[in-house]
Amino acid sequence: MSEIYDFDREIERRDTNSAKWEKYRGRDILPMWVADSDFAVAPPIVEAMHRRVDHPVYGYAHTAKPLQELIAARMQRLYDWQVSPDWVVMLPGIVGALHLACRATGRAGEGAYVPQVIYPPFARAPSFHGMHNLTMPMTWRDERLLLDLDWLERQPAKPGQILLFCNPQNPGGTCYRRDELERLVALVEDKQWILCSDEVHCDLVLEAGLQHIPVASLGSGIEQRSITLMAPSKTFNLAGLGCAFAIVPEPKLRKAMTTNPFIVPHVNVIGLAAAEAAYRHCDEWNRQQCIYLAANRDLLRERINRLPGLKLGPVEATYLAWIDVSALGLDDPPAFFEAAGIGMSPGKDFGDSGYMRLNFACPRSRLELAIERIERAVEAHQN
Ligand SMILES: Cc1ncc(COP(=O)(O)O)c(C=O)c1O
Repeated sequence: MSEIYDFDREIERRDTNSAKWEKYRGRDILPMWVADSDFAVAPPIVEAMHRRVDHPVYGYAHTAKPLQELIAARMQRLYDWQVSPDWVVMLPGIVGALHLACRATGRAGEGAYVPQVIYPPFARAPSFHGMHNLTMPMTWRDERLLLDLDWLERQPAKPGQILLFCNPQNPGGTCYRRDELERLVALVEDKQWILCSDEVHCDLVLEAGLQHIPVASLGSGIEQRSITLMAPSKTFNLAGLGCAFAIVPEPKLRKAMTTNPFIVPHVNVIGLAAAEAAYRHCDEWNRQQCIYLAANRDLLRERINRLPGLKLGPVEATYLAWIDVSALGLDDPPAFFEAAGIGMSPGKDFGDSGYMRLNFACPRSRLELAIERIERAVEAHQN
């Protein structure tokens, strides 16, 4: 019998340096914005960190061979993707990796394809390297937010030009299907672009019957022109531990992505211990977490879609709900919801001010309270 984990438990996060909770300190606003969860991590992770802490020297980390091997085996087991451990580049974060990917592929004055809507650091990364954004539009189909591949097909070929992609999609919650990814791959190969695929939410597919597919696993052609970014941070709630990785099969690209100690810090040694424990021992914990999150999503969706003026699509993956509030006709949606006691991420930051993003990775009791507050505010607004 496997252990039953308790995701209902309310954990006090004030005074723990939590970005999420400090933002609204002293105000009666439920923090449901930045993407970390309010769940306690799985016990084997805490035990592994304790063991590492008990060795009282915390110098620079070097390679993480057992973890790289574990990641390669995980890719094989979960996705039937044969990855060499040498392709795995350990990095302290995914956002830094987006910057490295821009630097690795582009020069000042060149363009980088960036989706709109998207997690905000994507849209900022190219400009830090003197590059400009080539904004890729997205379209809604059957309530799913997808890259507009017809638009992309019309763009010119340019060897080595980078395209920043996100799957599962933040903020849309889309889990891309095989045929959709195959069409993207055909375009990337045809136009000779480089694909940087942020798959940090890959273990958080909530919809039964759907499966994450790493886009680079679709063939040797795309493998050679791709950078895949993953981490245990979202899944296992380790975002504060600075441990992520890129899978880069092509050697020159990999060299360019390899941590430059003058710009990118080393990976955190405690984070390495936590990541290894997460990938080695915590699949069952995450299976239960996804069931809990799916129930949170169902509750949220049902109640939100009952409200006039609000709309929420299926959220196939991630714990982030991209809520269409445009029909409410609000001047300032973030301020409206903060006044009602719910602190969400403004859609404007992601490229669409008609939306708000709500993080539902919290105990159900808190989600229920948030929903009640939204209902009350929306009803008062309509009257
Ligand atoms: C798609 C995506 N990429 C990257 C990140 C942040 O990753 P990191 O904290 O490793 O920089 C997030 C966090 O919300 C995210 O949703």
